[in-house]
Amino acid sequence: MNQSKARITALGSYVPEKVLTNDDLEKMVDTSDEWIVQRTGIKERRISREDEYTSDLSYQAVQDLVSRSQKQIDDVDMIIVCTLTPDFKTPSVASLLQAKLGIQQAGALDLNAACAGFTYGLHMANGLITAGLHKKILVVGAETLSKITDYEDRTTCILFGDGAGVALVEYDEKHPSFLAAHVGSEGEKGKHLYSSNLSNQLFGEEIQATSRIVQNGREVYKWAVTSVPKGLNSLLDKASMSLKEVNWFVPHSANLRMIESICERAGFPLEQTLYRLVNYGNTSSATIPLALNKAHVEGKLKAGDTIILYGFGGGLSFAGLVIEWGI
Ligand code: COA
Repeated sequence: MNQSKARITALGSYVPEKVLTNDDLEKMVDTSDEWIVQRTGIKERRISREDEYTSDLSYQAVQDLVSRSQKQIDDVDMIIVCTLTPDFKTPSVASLLQAKLGIQQAGALDLNAACAGFTYGLHMANGLITAGLHKKILVVGAETLSKITDYEDRTTCILFGDGAGVALVEYDEKHPSFLAAHVGSEGEKGKHLYSSNLSNQLFGEEIQATSRIVQNGREVYKWAVTSVPKGLNSLLDKASMSLKEVNWFVPHSANLRMIESICERAGFPLEQTLYRLVNYGNTSSATIPLALNKAHVEGKLKAGDTIILYGFGGGLSFAGLVIEWGI
């Protein structure tokens, strides 16, 4: 693999104001706070206003990045928005964001790898910068999952929430962040987690033609707790590292029980694992930047720390990265 020439230099995040608690959900579907906490660890999640979309959340996250880091973004030359809940099919959220931010000379595109989106986005940004094609890239992970959640389906509506996070990735030959990547897809398992509205067939099998999220929670759970520990080994092999050298693990936070099981199977301490699901639920491509940003704000991350980011979910797909912290 090429020696990386890209570094993560700033972070930002945003979540909508409205809170949906487990108590609120008890009034909507046949569930209980006790069941939800016991099975998922989630207590509440944020819900966007009716007139608030993924581009709005993305914009606020970038504003947070700019105000806290004092970074200039008018010379950003690429905007990648990772999302499965774009405002429109076209224009892309990235194009809307480019216009809202008033950035003149940037390419803009959306990337959909569901909950693996943000790590795929970072991987692409590293590739474009290391190849010498771009110098400064905004990678956003943003979702308004509440807009495609079925609030009559108790097996899914307890899980999802809205939020956004962003990283600025810049050219830096001397102190690159990206040490190794392991990406992949198991498309034949796509039927376990989908949102359609065009097709009602998946590999010849009839599925629901609905834009709401449909999932087989058990299958996704089983897949994640077996596939992620294996993927971590492949990732560490590529980085020529052992798990002992890793300071922090930031898995996609879908379900706390799933994270506990992944850590146990991989042999990694839960105390060194960062997640934001207790108050935000599963925000898909936003979970990793939300967790990373909180740890950064709290001063937990030290320059030189080795961190594993691991996104996984719809596709089914995954993208893991070993990075060296350098903000
Ligand atoms: N409240 C109360 N009971 C519920 C419920 C809820 N919100 N949701 C399901 N149940 C019931 C089921 O109807 C079932 O009842 P039954 O035994 O009478 O049929 C029982 O609880 C067990 O259902 P099951 O689906 O087997 O539960 P589970 O232990 O697998 O937990 C999930 C369900 C969704 C929490 C869990 O499978 C999960 O988190 N999977 C991963 C999903 C995910 O993370 N997706 C995104 C990946 S990126």
